[in-house]
Amino acid sequence: MPQLPTVAIIGAGSSGIAAAKALHERDIPFDCFEASDRIGGNWVFANKNGMSAAYRDLHINTSRERMEFSDFPMPRSCPDFPHHTDIAAYFDAYVDHFGFRDKIRFEQAIVRAELRDDGGWDLQDAAGERHRFDMLLVANGHHWDARWPEPAFPGADTFEGMQLHAHEYRDNGVLERKDVVVLGMGNSAMDIAVEASYVARSTHLAARRGAWIVPKYLFGRPVDQFAPSHRVPVKLAAKAFEILLRLNAGPVERYGLPKPDHPISATHPTVSGRILDRIAHGAIVPRPNIARLGPDHVQFADGTQVHADVVIYCTGYKISFPFLDPALVSAPANRIELFRRVFSPPHPTLAFVGLVQPIGAIMPLAEVQGRLLADYLRGAYRLPSRARMLADIRRENAAMRKRYVASTRHTIQVDFDRYRYELERERRRGAARAAAARRAGKALPVPALAGEAGRDQPVAA
Ligand SMILES: Cc1cc2nc3c(=O)[nH]c(=O)nc-3n(C[C@H](O)[C@H](O)[C@H](O)COP(=O)(O)OP(=O)(O)OC[C@H]3O[C@@H](n4cnc5c(N)ncnc54)[C@H](O)[C@@H]3O)c2cc1C
Ligand SMILES: NC(=O)c1ccc[n+]([C@@H]2O[C@H](COP(=O)([O-])OP(=O)(O)OC[C@H]3O[C@@H](n4cnc5c(N)ncnc54)[C@H](OP(=O)(O)O)[C@@H]3O)[C@@H](O)[C@H]2O)c1
Repeated sequence: MPQLPTVAIIGAGSSGIAAAKALHERDIPFDCFEASDRIGGNWVFANKNGMSAAYRDLHINTSRERMEFSDFPMPRSCPDFPHHTDIAAYFDAYVDHFGFRDKIRFEQAIVRAELRDDGGWDLQDAAGERHRFDMLLVANGHHWDARWPEPAFPGADTFEGMQLHAHEYRDNGVLERKDVVVLGMGNSAMDIAVEASYVARSTHLAARRGAWIVPKYLFGRPVDQFAPSHRVPVKLAAKAFEILLRLNAGPVERYGLPKPDHPISATHPTVSGRILDRIAHGAIVPRPNIARLGPDHVQFADGTQVHADVVIYCTGYKISFPFLDPALVSAPANRIELFRRVFSPPHPTLAFVGLVQPIGAIMPLAEVQGRLLADYLRGAYRLPSRARMLADIRRENAAMRKRYVASTRHTIQVDFDRYRYELERERRRGAARAAAARRAGKALPVPALAGEAGRDQPVAA
């Protein structure tokens, strides 16, 4: 076996550790750089990296069995939708179980990653130390860079109350006896509006678009465990699911929410077992979009106006890589061109892990991505030609545009089972290409040039 390339992973959240584990079990030399002092990223409440969006009472909304890694079940003592503390503990236990904690460099944030002329990477950490690697895996998460309404609503600069983004929300203590407006129809808006409704004087839920509300359970089972096989056409599965939802709770318009103007398969699922109940109790009042803010009030698109002390923007996140030169790769309006959501076609030594928004959980998908990357680094998987990758990306993007509501939240969507199935299929195709390359005596796709010594270099002058 030729010498293997060295790999840097940025991030030890659930995606970074999934990739690390895959590399660890295939003896691929790597270091995982983590800004925090802990594993778990978003799932560490008050994470000292300042990047976690977890609030005190956050529970997962993808069920335990959907979220767990294939070879490390969550303890059966955990509920179906565990609290963030259980999830963070689970990721911690995963790393110890598979024995690669020593490969994680805690409190070593990467501030710069530069592509070298030879295809390798020069990384610089926050202390100014430099590190050279042959391959870079980016697993820095995509739910930490808050997307505020752009442009801000008219009058936002005159509002005298508190305006915050869901990313800053920790608990409902700050909302006690306040008049609160929550904006958005995603999962942050659902959870935060419900939490507000127990302590606030009034809670208004404003939305520019309707959403199908998916309960956490149907027929006594976590709803995501009803996912149809990837062989069932999406439209058919969506229609059947819409009928089930209507039979279960009736149309959302019945509760005063805006009618969804799209099929359920056209948006990322909004999951809440509690929102309809709180609306039914009058504890949350549905409203159309915000039109403007005044010093002490919010006016909505239908002309109605309410007194407001707090406005919480649950308006999503930006995909950002602050350590990469935007000329190399960036995600304007959350769009990023990656082959199978992993490989950057112009840069064979750069890949991304967990950069997907699944209908289902991210973790098992990061796990398959990790296995594919391990194959790639060992020469057991080869990419198709750049032209084929670009054609594949164009096809995928066209399909996504056709299927999903146009929004910055629908740029990296995948169907859980379909994506997993297709990535495994691609892995087999790439294995055949790799076998042919080996027979032709070709070198590894990522050459080993940096060497072990490259991992720590003297501080640059
Ligand atoms: C409120 C909320 C609830 C969610 N609930 C679910 C759910 O129920 N199910 C689900 O599947 N998904 C959920 N998600 C999506 C969430 O993105 C994933 O659960 C998961 O956190 C993704 O893991 P990750 O490793 O990709 O990113 P993160 O968890 O964000 O981890 C990224 C890691 O990279 C590190 N890092 C970043 N930049 C650097 C750097 N420059 N140098 C070194 N280290 C760096 C960070 O410190 C962090 O540890 C939720 C998201 C939010 C915001
Ligand atoms: N309990 C949980 O497990 C939980 C809780 C919270 C979040 N999450 C996850 O975290 C991720 C992020 O969720 P999120 O809810 O924070 O963000 P999101 O899914 O991106 O939703 C953003 C919402 O804000 C709306 N919006 C965006 N910009 C707007 C603007 N300028 N004016 C009016 N409305 C605007 C969007 O509407 P459009 O659709 O029209 O763009 C959408 O309804 C998702 O993966 C979600 O599943 C999970």
